[in-house]
Amino acid sequence: MGLPKLDLRPAVHVLADSAAKERLLRSALEPAFRVVPVPRQGLDPADIEGRHAVIDVDLQDVKTVMHVKAMMPALRAMSRCVFVVDRHIKKAMIQAHALGATNIMFNPVHDQRLVAMLTAEGEGAEDGSIESLGLVGPAAQAAKTASGGQKALLSLFSAVTAGAPVSPQAVEEAGRAIADNIAETSLTTWLDTVRQHHEGTFQHCLLVTGVAVGFGQRLGLNRNDIQRLATAGMFHDVGKASIPLEILDKPGRLDGDELAIMRSHPVIGYDAIVGTAGVSDEVADVVRHHHEFLDGSGYPDALQGHSISDLCRIMTISDIFAALIENRKYKPPMPREDAYEIIRGMTGKLEAPLVAAFRDVALKA
Ligand SMILES: [Fe+2]
Ligand SMILES: [Fe+2]
Repeated sequence: MGLPKLDLRPAVHVLADSAAKERLLRSALEPAFRVVPVPRQGLDPADIEGRHAVIDVDLQDVKTVMHVKAMMPALRAMSRCVFVVDRHIKKAMIQAHALGATNIMFNPVHDQRLVAMLTAEGEGAEDGSIESLGLVGPAAQAAKTASGGQKALLSLFSAVTAGAPVSPQAVEEAGRAIADNIAETSLTTWLDTVRQHHEGTFQHCLLVTGVAVGFGQRLGLNRNDIQRLATAGMFHDVGKASIPLEILDKPGRLDGDELAIMRSHPVIGYDAIVGTAGVSDEVADVVRHHHEFLDGSGYPDALQGHSISDLCRIMTISDIFAALIENRKYKPPMPREDAYEIIRGMTGKLEAPLVAAFRDVALKA
């Protein structure tokens, strides 16, 4: 008769919304961890057995989100809280971070990576694990900066989605890091890295920020102005936090109603950030007016000519270019030369000398 064997494996709390998911997580975790399923009534801080948790539930389901939300005091006490989410559901990632995720694992669950996430000393979402991408040199530097940028965008978008006040410092700092990175490496490295490792609206915002910074450098702007461009690039589409993903990610053309919803993003974004301490009026103006054209054919205010700021004119060109060269699942990225030709063809809408100066940014930088 022996003593019961001591289980020295650390505990990991697991919450899954199906038996199949729980089985998968169990088989991934059990060699290294003792799995403690979260009881039906949720996890109380008093019941915590370890400092690790893995959550694999449908974050598009309101009831489920409320359930996880109720567990936040317990989740906050975890040193690692991994949320498993679908890569294509941007809102799920935002939601996961808002609910206390320290790390994100994209479906399908990869056993070793999940264990590494729970045990590693490092931090960050799966996108942030540069080592696992096998990158070195300038690409690694760009990937690290992009990962920091994505994190700042995540918390910005989460705040707007939740109707909470935004804190602009992290966004500004991420913008500064992007400007430094492009000055140290090249715009091309930045664009290629972001297109390879990021998706959807965050990819777009990181690309716009990079293009605007590259454009500012080409125009010989001073450090402060380049920083303003970087911040404005990071913020410019913040209103998209409130646009449904079915519209944001729709592969084909938007119909009339969808277009109207999509076109509400500059005003939504402006309303969310205007007057926020640390967000300048110029940046708020870019958020509202980056879809205006010199000939008055833009939106939301059909501004014309001189009523569109210089910062905005630069941002509009950067925005169109970035949107054209984006890497989307349903279409190959447009070559930079072709994107520039489209911009060159938008006579009367964009400032001609700026478009001419943009040539070097589009084709060479
Ligand atoms: Fe926009
Ligand atoms: Fe945009």
